[in-house]
Amino acid sequence: MTNKEIKITYSEYSSIDELPAQDRLVAEAAISATASSYAPYSGFNVGAAVMLEDGEIITGSNQENAAYPSGLCAERTAMFYAGAHRPDKAMVKIAIAGGQNGVLCSDPATPCGACRQVMAQYQARGGRPMEVILVGGERIWKFSKVDDILPLIFDSL
Ligand code: THU
Repeated sequence: MTNKEIKITYSEYSSIDELPAQDRLVAEAAISATASSYAPYSGFNVGAAVMLEDGEIITGSNQENAAYPSGLCAERTAMFYAGAHRPDKAMVKIAIAGGQNGVLCSDPATPCGACRQVMAQYQARGGRPMEVILVGGERIWKFSKVDDILPLIFDSL
């Protein structure tokens, strides 16, 4: 028997002003996208912004439904739009911001498992790392690839 360890590294920033310019753009877009969240059940507003390889930014927000599973997270709303409308462009960054009543959570809202799996697949499809930027009100966490938030990614098919 051998004990193994999985280690991840990420960067923490205390303000979006500290981010490199392209990261700041995508982070700001994610924050703005929280305004279009439709969350009458949870009251939790999430915005996501995907930057494509050509610099275009596509946003999404969580969209809830009375038949609960029919709703969709912000990240998948944005990624599925990008996949549907810009199928040939790799998604190189995704930023996510979440909060309530117009106030971002201090620590970043982190993506659900299903969204991580979808990120993993679009990262593989694009053939290059997709950076993940999680935007909180007091802290911002940046991961250089989806693998860092989804160790042991399912990619066997
Ligand atoms: N939500 C997202 O949009 N992204 C996530 O990764 C986690 C959760 C949404 C789903 C639901 O509308 C609300 O946040 C509360 O769970």
